[in-house]
Amino acid sequence: MKPEETRQRVIEEHEKIRELLGEIDRANERFAQGSADGSEVRELAAGLFEVFAAHLALEDSLLAPALVALGDGGPWLAERLHREHREQRATLIALVELIEQAGQPSARIVDELHKFSDAVRNDMQHEEETILREDVLSDC
Ligand SMILES: [Fe+2]
Ligand SMILES: [Fe+2]
Repeated sequence: MKPEETRQRVIEEHEKIRELLGEIDRANERFAQGSADGSEVRELAAGLFEVFAAHLALEDSLLAPALVALGDGGPWLAERLHREHREQRATLIALVELIEQAGQPSARIVDELHKFSDAVRNDMQHEEETILREDVLSDC
């Protein structure tokens, strides 16, 4: 896959993840206000774990090699990407375990999900402003 295709593909996934995070925020809000039971939050969180884990795998297999191919600082950027993904995976696993153990979401889970959503949003924005910039990852 060419660098520009990789860039587009990753950005498209970011958009889908943003939509899902918006749904989770709204479900979290309804749950926190007591107007919904926890099943919706659990279901959406499960969906996020799947989508986000697949996203990390896609970036590891497509984006990291594209960064390495940039030469100069590319390998360093790829290594930083892998390191961030290891941390994100660990956070994700801890969150899944927390939700599975709890049975039903609690205020703590709502809070943790909220923090995770914010961190993912910030990370996607940071990627788009750095390694996913058109002038960084281009075909020529
Ligand atoms: Fe990433
Ligand atoms: Fe990403």
